[in-house]
Amino acid sequence: MHRVSANGANVPAIGFGTWTLKGDEATSLVAQALESGYRHVDTAAMYGNEEAVGAGLRTGGLGRDEVFLTTKIWHTDLAEGALSASLEASLDRLQVEQVDLALIHWPSSNGVPLDESIAALNACHGRGWARHIGVSNFPVKLLDEAVALSAQPLVCNQVEYHPMLNQDAVYGACRRHGMAMVSYCPLFRGGDAFSAAPVAQAVEAHGRSPAQIILRWHVQQAGVIAIPRTRTPSRIAENLAIFDFELSEREMAAISGLTVAGSRICDFDFSPAWD
Ligand SMILES: NC(=O)c1ccc[n+]([C@@H]2O[C@H](COP(=O)([O-])OP(=O)(O)OC[C@H]3O[C@@H](n4cnc5c(N)ncnc54)[C@H](OP(=O)(O)O)[C@@H]3O)[C@@H](O)[C@H]2O)c1
Repeated sequence: MHRVSANGANVPAIGFGTWTLKGDEATSLVAQALESGYRHVDTAAMYGNEEAVGAGLRTGGLGRDEVFLTTKIWHTDLAEGALSASLEASLDRLQVEQVDLALIHWPSSNGVPLDESIAALNACHGRGWARHIGVSNFPVKLLDEAVALSAQPLVCNQVEYHPMLNQDAVYGACRRHGMAMVSYCPLFRGGDAFSAAPVAQAVEAHGRSPAQIILRWHVQQAGVIAIPRTRTPSRIAENLAIFDFELSEREMAAISGLTVAGSRICDFDFSPAWD
């Protein structure tokens, strides 16, 4: 598996997403992911599964420094005291002393100034609670502001990205700032992208599954990391087995051409104005 270097962080290009996974199932799936070779796990305070994810990490039996662990701070907890309390509680639930990456999950929806949240995130880094810091769901203007405000470099913007959604603007901003772009919903949740003609043609040409073609499309873009989620054990290994083949430039372009207006999945009343 290749890794992505971004502002001092070195992140495995495929991570195991855990949204909606809970309890013993989440613990077992995280342990299986580590067994299959994953070295990057994505969770969040909001997912309500940090105890289970932490248990999965311990079951996996790897050294803490062998797994890149990300958690996130919910958008209602971005005032100074609330942000550090949220991350401290995450460490407690995960039973780790430090996460590798702490992200602001969404921009503030209740008027907390960005400079306050970014300063609080930097303070968490200073206390050793997060090896790296970053953001999620930040449109370009807000990302530029966050970068300008942060003493520590921000290492990523985690955003929705799949072949149906054009993210050229955010991707360009991430590249400009030396940040990784982490793709969530990378598989479009198993939706129409799987049967689209350019994906089907690449499936035929490379003898891979549609999910593998799409994940390869992600990681073949410089600075892009993908965090697919599955509760199907056989798909855990399938989603990681994408580093031994290459899509042609023509295949990459054809898959990138699948974008369709209105295909954003994660759009809520608290979402920012998108680019
Ligand atoms: N920062 C944010 O705001 C944010 C928002 C959303 C998600 N995320 C993160 O991103 C992760 C991934 O996003 P997501 O879970 O929403 O969507 P996703 O990974 O695009 O799709 C998950 C769906 O794809 C199916 N799938 C997975 N591998 C497959 C394969 N090889 N073949 C066929 N189907 C497959 C899964 O089915 P089965 O489970 O049945 O196998 C599941 O229904 C989340 O778990 C979370 O960690 C972050």
